[in-house]
Formats: sequence, structure tokens, C-alpha cells
Amino acid sequence: MRIVDLRSDTVAVPTLKMRQVMKDAEVGDDGFGEDPTTNRLEEMAAGKLNKEDALFVPSGTMGNLIAIMVHTKPGDGLICDRKAHINTMVAGNTSALTGTTICTLDADETGHLNLEELESLINLDDIRFPKTSLIVLENTNNLAGGTVVTPEETSEIYKIARKYGLRLHLDGARIFNSAIFQGVDVVELTRNCDSVMFCLSKGLASPVGSIIAGTKEFIKEARRRKKMLGGGMRQTGILAACGIVSLEEMIDRLSEDHDNARHLAKGLAGIEGFSIKPKTVQTNIVCFRFELPKLSCREFVENVGRKGVYVICLEKDYGRMVTHKDLNRLDVDYALEVFKKTVLEC
Ligand SMILES: Cc1ncc(COP(=O)(O)O)c(C=O)c1O
Repeated sequence: MRIVDLRSDTVAVPTLKMRQVMKDAEVGDDGFGEDPTTNRLEEMAAGKLNKEDALFVPSGTMGNLIAIMVHTKPGDGLICDRKAHINTMVAGNTSALTGTTICTLDADETGHLNLEELESLINLDDIRFPKTSLIVLENTNNLAGGTVVTPEETSEIYKIARKYGLRLHLDGARIFNSAIFQGVDVVELTRNCDSVMFCLSKGLASPVGSIIAGTKEFIKEARRRKKMLGGGMRQTGILAACGIVSLEEMIDRLSEDHDNARHLAKGLAGIEGFSIKPKTVQTNIVCFRFELPKLSCREFVENVGRKGVYVICLEKDYGRMVTHKDLNRLDVDYALEVFKKTVLEC
């Protein structure tokens, strides 16, 4: 059966070059800081984001967790969008493992935060409420449909953070998608953030791993937290070698995924029951509402799944599709055909 997997860009498999560099990677014990390939990846990543230092971590989830731990202490408050990944899809780890209280606001339909509302949530003096110490921004915004945050917006949010002595952490799991869509150097998006996490294992196709970056002092403390969380690894060079390929070869091609996502959204908009949310697709994520009297979103997803087209249902009538390097235009057209037939048959 032909498979078209639109559940996430995490399903993209390592490239042939990645398989080769894994085999040849120079390795050592990263626990002693002696893995030359990991050290090279960290140096490259820091350079790319124009940060003093960087750290290779097993996952984006752990990267965000480490950053939050470094920037806060138990009892502090952190502010983020209600739908932010750190608030919705991490098995509750933010509160459970960092001891922070998450104070949320609702981003608008396109994932943008209202800055007045954001500022109004900050608490420094009222002893009844958590003391705010951190703002976490997500770029691209996953559950808002892969929408981007601009350099100007980031800078405005940073100004607010600075005004109150807070830190700003960027969950940039897909920060290169954002930079490519906006046609800006990624540094424009990371300059005004105290720390950044980005994933190598999503659109950049590495099998494992994420990077966190910030000042030397931040990374020194982050290394301790990584160890504390059991994230210390050994001959990580075989993974870091793939990360290097991700940074060298997989960034510019992300625009193909964006084109395919726009093509997908256009096709979906012509099928009964679908509305694209938000209407304009910017990067590689297409969120949609699916409403038909005879077929729920969940039933639709199960039905097309049996035909080999995999999609995620996030809520009752809300779902997500993500494009990535292992899907081409023909795959997208095939998926659209399957969707059309499924809707007609119901
Ligand atoms: C915005 C965002 N942040 C963080 C993560 C976590 O990354 P990982 O799956 O590597 O833990 C994800 C994963 O989908 C994500 O979409």
C-alpha cells in the first residue's frame, strides 16, 4: 500500500549522507566533553545562531525543560501561549519537573500574542502570585499552523522582558522554517532571546537531537541540568554527525516543504468539510477544521489512515498535516485524491 505520512516532520528519515557520516564519525565520551563531532556540531550551531555557546541534547522537550530550569526557580511563574508546546504536549513536565507555574494567554488565530495582555500578566511584587521570571515564545507556532514570529515582534517581547528583568526563551523547534519563510537570517530571530532551542530531528531530518544555545554561563548550567535529567550520553558523535549534515544541507530545502504545504492547503480548501486555520499557510504545517454531519474528524483520520494516508486529529473537529522531505508534490496530490474520495463516499 502507498503510504503518505503527514502526521509530522519528525517522520522524515535520515538521508543517505547521514547514514554514511554516522559510520565514519570520529567519536569520544561526550560525558567528558571528548566527543569531537559533538563539539564541532555545538560550535557550528552556536555560530549559526550567533550565541556564545550551544549544547546537543536528546530532544526538544528536554532542551526546553533545561532552559526553563536554568532561567527559573521552583515557585516562579513563566508566561507563554496557552497552546504552546511546553504547556500542551510535554506530559505536564514543565510544572512537574521545574516547579514553575505556567501563566498563559491566548494567542490570536495566527499565533500572535497581544503584547499589552502579555505585559499585564507579569507579576513581580504581589506575594500571592508566582513571581514571573521567564517568557517562552514559540517560533514557528506549531498548533497555530506553523505561523512565524517576526524579528520585530521578538524584539518587542524582549523589550517587555527586559523592562521587568525577565528572561526570554525561544522554543524554536522549527526556527529555520521561520527564517526561510521570512527570508531573514536566523540570527534576526534569535538575537533578542536569552536562549534558543531548535530541533535537528524535524524538518532537518536528523534521527535524534536538538540544540540549546545561549551565553557561556547559561550553557555551563544547562550541562548540569542535562546530566540531572539523565540526558548525558556517550559516543554522541554518530548522532551529531547527522546534525552537522542537517545544518549544512537541509536548511535551504525547507522552502520545498513550504511550497508543498501551500499546495496541500489549496487542495484541502476545495474539499467539502475542510477549512484551513489560519487560511494562509506560511511554513510546513497545515492546521484544519473538519466538519461534516456524517463524518467526524477522528473518523476521517481513521478512514484515510486505513488507506495509507496518515494525518493527526488534535481536537474533536481540528487536525494537522505536516510536510517534510520524504513527501513530494505527487504524494500530496495522492493524499488529496484519497481525502476527496473519502469525503464523497461518506
Ligand atoms: C514547538 C515544539 N517544541 C518542542 C518540541 C519537542 O521536540 P521533541 O519531539 O524533540 O521532544 C516539538 C515537537 O514536536 C515542537 O513542535
